[in-house]
Amino acid sequence: MDTITPEPRPAWIAGRAEQGSGTLEVTHPFDGSEVATVAVPGPDQVERAVAAAAAVAPAFRRSPAHVRAAALDHVSRGLATRAEELAEVITAENGKPFKWAEVEVKRAISVFRLAAEEARRFTGDVQRLDTDAGGEGRLALVRRVPRGPVLGIAPFNFPLNLVAHKVAPSLAVGAPIIVKPAPRTPLSSLILGELLAETGLPEGVFSVLPLGNEDTAKLVADPRLPVVSFTGSGPVGWSLAEAAPRKHVVLELGGNAAAVVLADWPDLPGAAARIATFGNYQAGQSCIAVQRVIVERAVADEFVPALLDAVRGLKTGDPYDATVDVGPVVDEAAAERIVAWVDEAVAGGAKVLTGGSRKGATVEPTVLTDVPANAKAWAEEIFGPVLAVSVVDSADEAFAAVNASAYGLQAGVFTRDVQLAFRASAELEVGGVIVGDVPSYRADQMPYGGVKGSGVGREGVLAAMHDLTEERVTVFTGIEL
Ligand code: SIN
Repeated sequence: MDTITPEPRPAWIAGRAEQGSGTLEVTHPFDGSEVATVAVPGPDQVERAVAAAAAVAPAFRRSPAHVRAAALDHVSRGLATRAEELAEVITAENGKPFKWAEVEVKRAISVFRLAAEEARRFTGDVQRLDTDAGGEGRLALVRRVPRGPVLGIAPFNFPLNLVAHKVAPSLAVGAPIIVKPAPRTPLSSLILGELLAETGLPEGVFSVLPLGNEDTAKLVADPRLPVVSFTGSGPVGWSLAEAAPRKHVVLELGGNAAAVVLADWPDLPGAAARIATFGNYQAGQSCIAVQRVIVERAVADEFVPALLDAVRGLKTGDPYDATVDVGPVVDEAAAERIVAWVDEAVAGGAKVLTGGSRKGATVEPTVLTDVPANAKAWAEEIFGPVLAVSVVDSADEAFAAVNASAYGLQAGVFTRDVQLAFRASAELEVGGVIVGDVPSYRADQMPYGGVKGSGVGREGVLAAMHDLTEERVTVFTGIEL
C-alpha cells in the first residue's frame, strides 16, 4: 500500500479535515524510509478545536444513547472494512510486525463495539434513603455525567488501539474529545478521524491534532478541557499531573512487568514460549511486555534452557515479512538506549545468556541473568526486547521480588495452586494479576491500569466510562416506596 499522498494528510479540526500551518514527516522505523507527511495545525486551528469541543459539550452530553451507539458501531464496522489498510499503516508508522498490527486492528474493532454496547446500558443507579427515619419517603437517583471535554494524549506503541481506548469511551458517555497522537505515529488516528467524520456526530465532538509534544502544554493547561487522559512515559505523565492539579488526570504509564514461574507449573516449555513471545512482541514496546522473569529454583534448570531456546527461535527483520517476530523499536536512539541499559547491567555483574546487540533500530532478543536490583534493566521500564531472569527459593520470595518495584501495572503468575493464585491476587501490588499466563494479557473490556509509578485511573471500556464521568445525585422527596 502506498501511504504517501500528494498533499499532507489532513488534521481533524472540530470534525473537519484541514491542512495545517506546518507539516510533520513520518518515517518507517525499520529503514528510515518516508511513510507520509502530515498536517500540523497552527494555534488558531487548535483554538477552534478546543472552542468547538467546549461549545458542543452540553448538547452532546444530553444526546440520545442510540445516536452515540450508532456512531460507535459505524466506526467499529469501518475499522473492520479497512482492517488490512490500517494494519499496513500501523506497521509503516510504528514498525511492529504486520501480524501484530492485524491483532491491534481487531482489538480496536472490539473496543468501539464494546463502547456501543456500554453506551446503550450506561444508566446509573437508584438508592433508597429510608434507611433512617429522616429519609422516609426519599429516593436518590445517582446518574453519571461527563466531567467535560477530554484531552486524550496517546503513545506510539499502539497507535490505533490506545487511541481507540480514549475516543470510544468518551463518545460513549457523551464527552467531546481532542486526540493528540504521538508525533511518530499519527496516521492511524487520522484514519480513525475519517471514520468518525462519517458518523454525522456534531461539529466539535472530535478533533485529531498531530501536534509536537512541546505544543501540548497549552492544551493541558486549558480549563475548557477538564479531563486529561494520558498514556506514555512516567516522567511525562507525572509532570502533566503536576501541571494540572485541578483537572481529572488519568495516567496509564509504564512498568517493568514480571512473570513468575512457580515450581508446580506443569508445562515449563509452554510457559517459556509464552514469556519469550510476550517479552519480545512489538520488540518489547508494550507497558505489559514481560521484562522481569522470576523463577523458582526447583524448576530453573529446566525452565531457563527452554526460555533460551524459545527466544533464540524468534526471527528479527523486516516487519512486513510474515515470518518475522521481532521488528525494530521506534527509532535508533531508542535501540541505542536499550543496549546501553544492557551494558550497564553487565558492568554491574549481569550475564548475557543470549542477544545483547543491535543493528540499526533492531535490538536482538536478549536474555540476562544476575541483573543487580538497581540496574535500569531490572528496576526501570526497558521498553525493548530484553528479559531479565532471577532465580528465587520460594513463592514468598517471588512475590516480594514482584513488589520490590517502583511500578505496578500487571503481573503474570504461572501456578495451578489455587491458594497461591489467591495469594498472588491479594498480595501483588499491581492493577492486574494474570494467573497461568504472562502479564501481557489484556482483554479490552477489562479494567486496565496501574498502581505506584504505573499511574492512576483505569481504562478498559466501562472502567474508562466511569473515570470520564462523575456521579450526580438527585433526591426525590415525598415518594411512596
Ligand atoms: C500498553 O502498552 O499500556 C497497552 C498494552 C495493551 O493494550 O495490550
